[in-house]
Amino acid sequence: MTGPEGGQGRKRVAVIGATGSVGTAVLDVCRAHPGAFEVRALAARTDSEKLTALAAEFGATMLCVHDAPPGSGSALCGTRGLVAVAEDPGVDHVVFASSGTAAIPALQAALRAGKEVSLANKESIVVAGPWVMPLVRFRDQLRPLDSEHNAVWQCLHGEEAPVRRIFLTASGGPFRDWPASKLDAVTPEMALRHPVWAMGAKITIDSATLMNKGIELIEAMILFGLEPHQVEALVSPGSFVHALAEFEDGSVKMLAGPPDMRLPAASCLFWPERRFPCERVGRPVLAPRTIAFEPPDEGRFPALRLAREAMERRGPLPAVLVGADEVAVDRFLEGRIGFTAIARAVEETMGACPLPAPASLEEALSALDWARRYCAKICDAWEA
Ligand SMILES: NC(=O)c1ccc[n+]([C@@H]2O[C@H](COP(=O)([O-])OP(=O)(O)OC[C@H]3O[C@@H](n4cnc5c(N)ncnc54)[C@H](OP(=O)(O)O)[C@@H]3O)[C@@H](O)[C@H]2O)c1
Repeated sequence: MTGPEGGQGRKRVAVIGATGSVGTAVLDVCRAHPGAFEVRALAARTDSEKLTALAAEFGATMLCVHDAPPGSGSALCGTRGLVAVAEDPGVDHVVFASSGTAAIPALQAALRAGKEVSLANKESIVVAGPWVMPLVRFRDQLRPLDSEHNAVWQCLHGEEAPVRRIFLTASGGPFRDWPASKLDAVTPEMALRHPVWAMGAKITIDSATLMNKGIELIEAMILFGLEPHQVEALVSPGSFVHALAEFEDGSVKMLAGPPDMRLPAASCLFWPERRFPCERVGRPVLAPRTIAFEPPDEGRFPALRLAREAMERRGPLPAVLVGADEVAVDRFLEGRIGFTAIARAVEETMGACPLPAPASLEEALSALDWARRYCAKICDAWEA
């Protein structure tokens, strides 16, 4: 394998989801370190214009537009296009920064091919964890790029003994202090104004309902091989501490830093080196209020309770939670259901699920689809 600056050459990187918020953070790091990284391949769902501009800037030679219309001239498209990017012999490191589940086969292909992988996409672990995790071939092959999971990953390095518990932090979102009675009046515009992180629309709404934290708890349990009771959420409004790991002797390690996705991106790309991501990342400011914690309020933010239920009961429920939430968030963004209806729609869908535990990736994806359809019906009925 080629390596970062000072190694045998440049690390050859592919970015799936290159046009999105996480993809942009990853490319910022690559742009700041042209001697360390060669951006070889880029993929997006539809935004071929932005992808072409990025390819010209970075000199990427492989482009995949997943939803390229027939006859558009795009050589790589669909699942096969993403898999071709992920297993290309000219790529050392594949970043999964796409939303949704389309890149799961590509993630499996990258792991099977022995590539280093940086993973931001939560859906692929929550829905398909049992068919992804066994494919990890060596330590640190799969590097969590989500800031909280990246923080846990960093806290666990150098530890031989098992961790007792981990805590993922949440900013609490824009409605952290709001009484339950006001939450019905939240509009998409209000929910899209996250106080700390600049992210894609879906994850911004999930942060406001705390569903994002719930999905992250399930992701962390699977990624780090833990039991549900070992994974907790903590609200930390300063958004400076990203995660904590508590060990058997009672010691707690935490990872803190500015809330900027370029930091975890750089840690994944450079690992085991530690390099400053790029000039635009602020230096951390350590002040007492930045490391305060409070428990999350599952009464006002029931999404967290639902995720915990999915985590404990497992079976099809993690996939059902993800599928129902996708539809409910879309309906909220379209102004068709209210903010508090998101969690209600997810809860009704979970409660109605007749499916057995999935025995294959195909069955897990079917559970996801069933949940999307069922949740859409619930939302339609509420609109009628
Ligand atoms: N934003 C964050 O800070 C953050 C932090 C941790 C984890 N995550 C997770 O990272 C993922 C991406 O989040 P985001 O906020 O960056 O989303 P985003 O801004 O909406 O960007 C999504 C990206 O994925 C691409 N994409 C979607 N479907 C695809 C497909 N079928 N094939 C190829 N590319 C596809 C999109 O391409 P088009 O532009 O063409 O649509 C876009 O580049 C999500 O799973 C999210 O939960 C995000």
